[in-house]
Amino acid sequence: MDNLKKCDIIIFGAHGDLALRKLMPALYHLHQDGHIDESSRIIGVSREKLSTKEYSDLISEKFQTSFKDESYDEKIFQKFISTLIYISIDLTNEIEYKKLSKVLKGHEDKERINYLSTAPSLFGIICKNLAQMKLIVPTSRVVLEKPIGNNLASSQVINDEVSKYFEESAIYRIDHYLGKDTVQNILALRFSNMLFTPIWNTQYIDHIQITVAESVGLEGRWDYYNNYGAMRDMIQNHLLQLLCLITMEPPSTLDGDRVRDEKLKVIRALRFIEGDDLKLKTVRGQYGSGVSGDKSVPGYLEEDGGNSNSDTETFVAIRADIDNWRWHGVPIYLRTGKRMSERYSEIVIDFKDIPHSIFPKGGVCIDSNKLVIRLQPDESISMFIMNKVPGLNEGMKLRQVELDLNISEDAPRSPDAYEHLLLDVVRSNPTLFMRRDEVEAAWVWADKIIEGWKSQGIKPKSYKAGTCGPSSSMALIERDGRSWYEK
Ligand code: BG6
Repeated sequence: MDNLKKCDIIIFGAHGDLALRKLMPALYHLHQDGHIDESSRIIGVSREKLSTKEYSDLISEKFQTSFKDESYDEKIFQKFISTLIYISIDLTNEIEYKKLSKVLKGHEDKERINYLSTAPSLFGIICKNLAQMKLIVPTSRVVLEKPIGNNLASSQVINDEVSKYFEESAIYRIDHYLGKDTVQNILALRFSNMLFTPIWNTQYIDHIQITVAESVGLEGRWDYYNNYGAMRDMIQNHLLQLLCLITMEPPSTLDGDRVRDEKLKVIRALRFIEGDDLKLKTVRGQYGSGVSGDKSVPGYLEEDGGNSNSDTETFVAIRADIDNWRWHGVPIYLRTGKRMSERYSEIVIDFKDIPHSIFPKGGVCIDSNKLVIRLQPDESISMFIMNKVPGLNEGMKLRQVELDLNISEDAPRSPDAYEHLLLDVVRSNPTLFMRRDEVEAAWVWADKIIEGWKSQGIKPKSYKAGTCGPSSSMALIERDGRSWYEK
């Protein structure tokens, strides 16, 4: 094991859903696997008035229901929980930070990680209060949960505020998709296999599809979601990050800035979608009632806390184009939505047709090769190739077969994205975090679409919960003579 750093990991918003559902289990696993020095502490900070004991009990309760696998060990849990301290603080009130100051005193030998798992509107004030109370030390870093703003202007305000107190190199902006093992595997697939290198371009690839489909609805998040919608919640970050990893030039090393420089170039080369193209190249959808699994579910407008006249989109499909040499003429189709028929995330690289067929016409349809990278829930990489139907009677009959590389079978427990990312913050490795210029460039591109929808009055089309989204999303790709890949 590498040299472990002694840290104080301060979770602001410790009582929130993300902290309880994702961050605490991730920290437990890091503890269990020996990635965190035993003298490190976790300091939960939140407005709720609880003692450390009450907060620990709450975590224990959550763990009982969420740990279904064999990775829970009561002894380790007790050790983990003994590193925890909870402080109740009104985060907007500078004086209250004295409580935190008291807890940090005498632990100056530890590196300080400030994880802001709060509303983004609090990011600036938390950093300011930390600075006023002299709680920022040379080893301090700050982790910002997405969303960073809801457009370019608001993200700039947040970034400006935070950067008054922290250097860019100490700011870790999370996009949890980058913490997924399967997403990182895209780097391995592309940059450690010579096989793909010469064909990864417009000469051999016809188009690319990226789908992140969710079967869940809002899960009680109306207030947040209704101000964001699928474009801001998913496309601006998760799907653009996937697009970048698939299409960027090879970075010279895996160093944070080398990778991020390449991703930034891709985002900046994305063609703006405006004017008449908005109706041709984008589709907004909103789910109505329907059936999910075998349960009847309400439509978006009838969700808890909702109102009946929202035109927030819960589905987006986009044809994106990258204006550079490598990708000229290769559309990238993006699609994401809530309450779709099933939960899956998948990237399909669809290769061009062969230039000329030597096989007898009639009965032989030569399908294009496809590389299908399934990110979740079941992780796999498949290559679809043409093959001769075996046997004497078949002549030269061909069929498409799947070469299946099922990764999850030989993997041990697959670490959650937050485990990866928290460990990278502890190790001060910024590669998998978004740099300011990247986030802002992504907003520039996304804002153009969102503003265009508004100015042209483009409303979401309704789709039934439990389906693949509005029919216009089929039309979007079919207009180009292609279709969505369905297994
Ligand atoms: C979050 C979005 O960033 O990602 C959610 O805010 C979405 O709306 C979630 O459900 C999807 O993440 P995952 O890891 O479940 O695919």
